[in-house]
Amino acid sequence: MKKVLITAAVMALSLGAAAQVKVNVHESAKDQPVIPKEIYGQFAEHLGRCIYDGLWVGEDSDIPNINGYRKDIVEALKELKVPVLRWPGGCFADEYHWMDGIGPKDKRAKIVNSNWGGTIEDNSFGTHEFLNLCELIGTEPYISGNVGSGSVEELAKWVEYMTAENGSMAELRKSNGREKPWKVKYLGVGNESWGCGGNMDPDYYSDLYKRYAIYCREYDGNRLYKIASGANGGDYNWTKVLMDDIRQDMSGLSFHFYSVIEWNNKLNATNFPEDEYYNTIAKACEVEQLIRTHSSVMDIYDPHKRVGLLLDEWGTWYNVEPGTNPGHLFQQNTMRDAIVAGLSLNIFHDYVDRLKMANIAQIVNVLQSMILTKGKDMVLTPTYHVFRMYNVHQDATYLPTDCSSAVCTAPSGQNYPDLSVTASKSDAVHISLVNSSLSEDKEIEISFDSLKPKSVSAEILRGAGKDGLQSVNAYNDFGKNARNVEPVALKDVKIDGGKLRLTVPTASVIVLSVK
Ligand code: AHR
Repeated sequence: MKKVLITAAVMALSLGAAAQVKVNVHESAKDQPVIPKEIYGQFAEHLGRCIYDGLWVGEDSDIPNINGYRKDIVEALKELKVPVLRWPGGCFADEYHWMDGIGPKDKRAKIVNSNWGGTIEDNSFGTHEFLNLCELIGTEPYISGNVGSGSVEELAKWVEYMTAENGSMAELRKSNGREKPWKVKYLGVGNESWGCGGNMDPDYYSDLYKRYAIYCREYDGNRLYKIASGANGGDYNWTKVLMDDIRQDMSGLSFHFYSVIEWNNKLNATNFPEDEYYNTIAKACEVEQLIRTHSSVMDIYDPHKRVGLLLDEWGTWYNVEPGTNPGHLFQQNTMRDAIVAGLSLNIFHDYVDRLKMANIAQIVNVLQSMILTKGKDMVLTPTYHVFRMYNVHQDATYLPTDCSSAVCTAPSGQNYPDLSVTASKSDAVHISLVNSSLSEDKEIEISFDSLKPKSVSAEILRGAGKDGLQSVNAYNDFGKNARNVEPVALKDVKIDGGKLRLTVPTASVIVLSVK
């Protein structure tokens, strides 16, 4: 199911030209996998203004809200079709004690959020508020359980509280206003257990995991998909030890990957030069190597691919915006992030035989967010628009493609595709194209196995600017520039003798719908 890329390593040059690229879409290929909608998952953490002043403003806020959830955000998330939402962290999860976040709000514990800026967390957004939000926006909850500072009993009782019909945990839930249990499918057992989640080694974690896996029970028909906390980037030994020891006890194994070039010397989210653009997108493409290698380790122990690989945190990570709390990780989001999103999603599609979920970090006001807020204002980021345009691929059948475009090398020495393509089939054939180049439009000819296109519609996302660099630096700011980067219909796609022809301009993301 891998794409054939005709490789020619070329340096990213600033030339003004249009390259000819041929794309073949194999819509007749048999036995292709479904692209799980969970690849389009999101992540909400008690970090900075993700929850408070983001998703949740409280019932008494002047900001229009539905039972405390920001109304404009709820509407935007419904439109996005969020399939799964991971919560409450991240590093926060391993210090989260769920009982602090239930019951009357004025009695809830106030804790120091020691991972993220020492902010006082008043727990006014807890289990009920999270699970009700999931119901409101029609998303599957993914609970990330506390292993680092919690206990087996605490997590087992949390599962019982959320999902059991009867018993004292169910009674407690009912006394807090929720009669019916929720359905909770995804249960993470710890987060980054090799790091902020307890500094464990893989053997120790595996032993601990077995206890959690046994005692987190399935109540009243609620089936749990238990997720083990996976490797730090390319620590393949972690994957090996867990697959060897606990593969029978898990449904999924997670790992995290952020597009950061130097952790001690992060780049700025805006006003970046050309080399930082290419280095960032090439770094993002490194995720392919990680997915491939973790998958090949998993294949040794699980050749039938029963255990899913879950990239449950990913995205860009830059310096915080000037003047904001360094512990709150608030960053802007430019057209560069949209290119990263498109390239990453295209890669994920190629590995859905093993990769079953991905959760971009974080949904609102933190790293590569969908939405940013400032007081009453809200902006949808370029990354939001890519996720919205791409949601046609959710649960669609993957289609193999070939593309004659080159592989380029960024100044850092890492490779990235000059033009990246993915395709899927549902009610129509959808083709997503990302032109990474800042200098070269692509003249594309798309052929099919046997499909003779009768109609085509398309959307394009591209930043405005006098040149490619300015266009990738474009972002949606609060105030009059809030809709600076927005998708528009692309009219100029021609059907010509059973083929499609179009120009994919520099630094753009396009989604075609073909019938
Ligand atoms: O997303 C920010 C942090 O990055 C998460 O809390 C943690 O899991 C990861 O290290």
